[in-house]
Amino acid sequence: MACTLVAVKPWRLGLNNAKINWDKHGVPYACDFNDVYFSTENALEESRCIFIAANQLTQRWSQWSEKRAFVIAETGFGSGLNFLATWRHWQQQQSHVTLVYRAIERFPLHVQDLQRCLQNWDELQYLSTALIKQYPPAVPGFHRLYFEQGRVILDLCLGDVSDILPQWSAYFDQQTPDTQASMVDAWYLDGFAPAKNPDMWTPDLYQHMARLSQVGATFGTFTAAGHVRRGLQQAGFKVDKQPGFGHKRERLCGVYEGTESLYTAQQTSKKPSSKQPPWFRNTSPKFTDKKALILGGGVAGTSIAYSLAQRGWSLHLVEAQAQLARGASGNAQGAVYPLLSADWSPATRFYLQAMLLIQRRLDSLRDAGFDIPGNWCGVLLPASTIQQQKKQQQIIQNLQLPAKVVQLCSASETKQHCGINLHHPGLWFSQAGWLSPATLCHAQWHKAAQQTQAQLSLNCRIQKISRHNGLWQLWRDGQCIAQAPVLILANAWEALKLLPELELPLQAVRGQVSYPPQTPDSAKLRSVVCETAYLTPTNTTGLHCLGASYTPGDTDTTLSIAEHQQNLQQLQSLPALANSLDTQEELIHDWAGRVSVRCSSRDHLPVVGAIPEKQAFFEDYAEMHLGKRFDTYPQEPRMQNLYASLGHGSRGLLSAPLAAELIAAQMNAEPLPLADDLQRALSPQRFWVRQLKSST
Ligand SMILES: Cc1cc2nc3c(=O)[nH]c(=O)nc-3n(C[C@H](O)[C@H](O)[C@H](O)COP(=O)(O)OP(=O)(O)OC[C@H]3O[C@@H](n4cnc5c(N)ncnc54)[C@H](O)[C@@H]3O)c2cc1C
Ligand SMILES: C[S@@+](CC[C@H](N)C(=O)[O-])C[C@H]1O[C@@H](n2cnc3c(N)ncnc32)[C@H](O)[C@@H]1O
Repeated sequence: MACTLVAVKPWRLGLNNAKINWDKHGVPYACDFNDVYFSTENALEESRCIFIAANQLTQRWSQWSEKRAFVIAETGFGSGLNFLATWRHWQQQQSHVTLVYRAIERFPLHVQDLQRCLQNWDELQYLSTALIKQYPPAVPGFHRLYFEQGRVILDLCLGDVSDILPQWSAYFDQQTPDTQASMVDAWYLDGFAPAKNPDMWTPDLYQHMARLSQVGATFGTFTAAGHVRRGLQQAGFKVDKQPGFGHKRERLCGVYEGTESLYTAQQTSKKPSSKQPPWFRNTSPKFTDKKALILGGGVAGTSIAYSLAQRGWSLHLVEAQAQLARGASGNAQGAVYPLLSADWSPATRFYLQAMLLIQRRLDSLRDAGFDIPGNWCGVLLPASTIQQQKKQQQIIQNLQLPAKVVQLCSASETKQHCGINLHHPGLWFSQAGWLSPATLCHAQWHKAAQQTQAQLSLNCRIQKISRHNGLWQLWRDGQCIAQAPVLILANAWEALKLLPELELPLQAVRGQVSYPPQTPDSAKLRSVVCETAYLTPTNTTGLHCLGASYTPGDTDTTLSIAEHQQNLQQLQSLPALANSLDTQEELIHDWAGRVSVRCSSRDHLPVVGAIPEKQAFFEDYAEMHLGKRFDTYPQEPRMQNLYASLGHGSRGLLSAPLAAELIAAQMNAEPLPLADDLQRALSPQRFWVRQLKSST
């Protein structure tokens, strides 16, 4: 069958699962490419020869002395056989390296097909089961999966290789000859035969490989096609032909030698560079000790503790209150579902990815024995107006997400989903739900403390932050109570009281949740329902969680009856739900509830990542508004080992764990867990850039 390639941009049109046929030996065939995923003759041995041996992993891992992770990048994840073979090799070597395996896939296998592919190898059974357990639905974007207590990381980047590779950023380092530090150490080129899939094997691919490699990075591939060889050579790789595996005649492998000679010959001394503006570039972190201070013990701070502990950092978390999760992260129940718009906006992409990450995080914590109350009972977003209904239809049409992630449901189906007939159609997130934020915080902290040296100071309100001899210092009552090379601000709206000079546009927003008792009618509620207000099914205390008022600029935390009434009023657009509660005036007076303060940013995305030195930033990029060529500015912002996980607004349960992963990646010079443009959209300096661009 001839192959039909459709040049689609998945971040605009959604992803399709691969269409598979099976041959009589149980080998999968891609219908659209008319090609096999792996050979019929000993595919596992083939993978070991073409990718593991060709990239000399045994020798390189045993000699690996760098502090950062070893990074493998694969074009075409397919059945994950190469990943599992590499992971198995890592186990057999008892390797000390941390392995980050980044794989790109445009047509992910359906999980049933994946299962069927992988059952062929008994030796890989245990690893296959672990992979299948975490395997994400076909949602475009980056999905980070952890194995081996975080020492083997799989980044499944779902999308077309031509969309994904430009979204990988390298770290900049003025001390390295090419100013750009290595991002990928070994390449696996495995995207079907070039003749059957010409769109994958392009000069652009080789240029991006060069951009992300440093001298010494290697590659292996099954093909020996002439244009692949020439393309790689032109990009700066030394290419060797080797005997092919099995009946195949030849294959290629090689090493990146750099582009100095190539490009000097053409009157230019630079290798292909990133299109990323210098003011957003990630720099190689510079510190000798892996010691960090975390300020704030809510979901942001404990998520950072979790992510850094996996990477062997010593931690000191400092919290003003007598316990963790006494701020915004202390409500009894929090709704967990992604915020979607009818386009692939940064918020849509970020929250979708964050949603899938928190689900995997919870599974992993529960597997480790932590009891975290919560239920993936589904979340229903009823649309009570025609306008809302149209918007929801557009979301479904434009994003083309798998039905198990989100789908439209009719008015009559709402009863089936949530137990109460709401008389409106809506959006149904079948795998979303609610969880107990405080328990999540405690579990993340305890897991961190099991893995690393972790000190917790409670009842410790920091009044001053300073930096001396390269160390960040936290002060209380005139005494420095802690110091370390790195500081992460996770203290929400109070961060700016301590460092007002950062001038980040963050705002405190008071919010109250009400805890109405269950009634016989409300007991029928099976899923979370969110419209203007949200109502959760009851937890073990027999109370619902009804939220949440929203008062910008107010930091008073006194419980208010008027705000109980306001929450109830917001629920009136869904009368069946509002009427299911006992709402007599005197009963509302007795409702329990909780008030806390959110920290919201001006553009409603959290503020996450390394914070450059502000004064230096404004000096270095003062002429940004002139729109000069990127290479005329300093190539990277000046950094100070200060990080932010702030501004989580009304969705911190989703955003904080992914934010922590981003910070941990930056602190360890690891590949980022999300696309380059998303990292920019979250970066603290985005507000300064807007300011500088608009200055005249
Ligand atoms: C009413 C309400 C309802 C919400 N509902 C949901 C929901 O359904 N789903 C959802 O995803 N999100 C929800 N949110 C948002 C979510 O709760 C927050 O985004 C999240 O808890 C923020 O976590 P955080 O760690 O940034 O902040 P916090 O949990 O507030 O933690 C900050 C910590 O820093 C400490 N601190 C501050 N200053 C200092 C200092 N100087 N020294 C030491 N420690 C300090 C504080 O004591 C606090 O413990 C809701 C928020 C509110 C207010
Ligand atoms: C030979 S298979 C890979 C086999 C895989 N490495 C394994 O271990 O099973 C090639 C894979 O490349 C994917 N692919 C093809 N074209 C692509 C593109 N343009 N971008 C991303 N992935 C692509 C296919 O969907 C397929 O899964």
